Amino acid sequence: MSYSIAIDGPAGAGKSTIAKNIAKKLKFIYVDTGAMYRAMGLYFLQNNIKIEETDKINQACSNVNISIEYVEGEQQVLLNGENVNGLIRTEEVGKMASSCATQKQVRLKLVELQRELAKKTDVIMDGRDIGTYVLPEANLKVYLTASSKERAGRRWKELTDKGIKCDINDIEKDIIARDEQDMNREFAPLKQAEDAILVDSSHLTIDEVIDRIIELYQHKSNSLKG
Ligand code: CDP
Ligand code: CDP
Repeated sequence: MSYSIAIDGPAGAGKSTIAKNIAKKLKFIYVDTGAMYRAMGLYFLQNNIKIEETDKINQACSNVNISIEYVEGEQQVLLNGENVNGLIRTEEVGKMASSCATQKQVRLKLVELQRELAKKTDVIMDGRDIGTYVLPEANLKVYLTASSKERAGRRWKELTDKGIKCDINDIEKDIIARDEQDMNREFAPLKQAEDAILVDSSHLTIDEVIDRIIELYQHKSNSLKG
């Protein structure tokens, strides 16, 4: 039986940084589901598909092939066979990912792929609906959050370190707008699962969050072993 850890939460809470690290420590596979929505968002942008164009979206869901492979432990997302990891990290793609994630048919397509991955191997999977919808039987569920100010500050630092000029207030506005869209969509919105453990990382370092989740995992796996 494979083991699964679900990490959900809003943008910039630290999900991917932390999940990637824990995957290495526990020898699990890290599945970044946001990257799959981003690949879909990229396809919508490249093909000028608008969110109200239901026929085009249905067509895209049947024609587009999104798959995952791992190179030296790093997840790569392939869009119709092309590795798009280098193209999906922009704010424009993030916004489009959030818009196309409101569409049920897009979600059903990607959830199928996510569940397949979790069947085969031990996974730590992060996203918005992992504990509530994708893996309702996950062995450990964490809802990782932080204040919008803190999350905006982290994004601002990331961009500034790369030499990209940006305004922290604009970043916070974008983050709040994306959270609202993710929390208020009809199908599989972002919310804390009833059995998820809340971890607020606003005043915790990355290492402190990792230690806390590993501790939760050890506690859970000991109680599973009886
Ligand atoms: O995946 P998600 O959008 O939730 O967040 P992330 O991309 O993993 O983290 C956003 C930024 O916050 C990264 O630059 C992390 O290094 C940083 N971070 C932090 O400063 N303190 C934490 N406790 C967690 C993340
Ligand atoms: O890195 P960041 O937290 O900014 O976003 P992400 O995890 O890369 O996800 C991009 C967008 O995909 C999110 O804003 C969500 O709208 C959507 N998403 C989702 O709906 N469900 C998931 N399981 C993962 C991402």
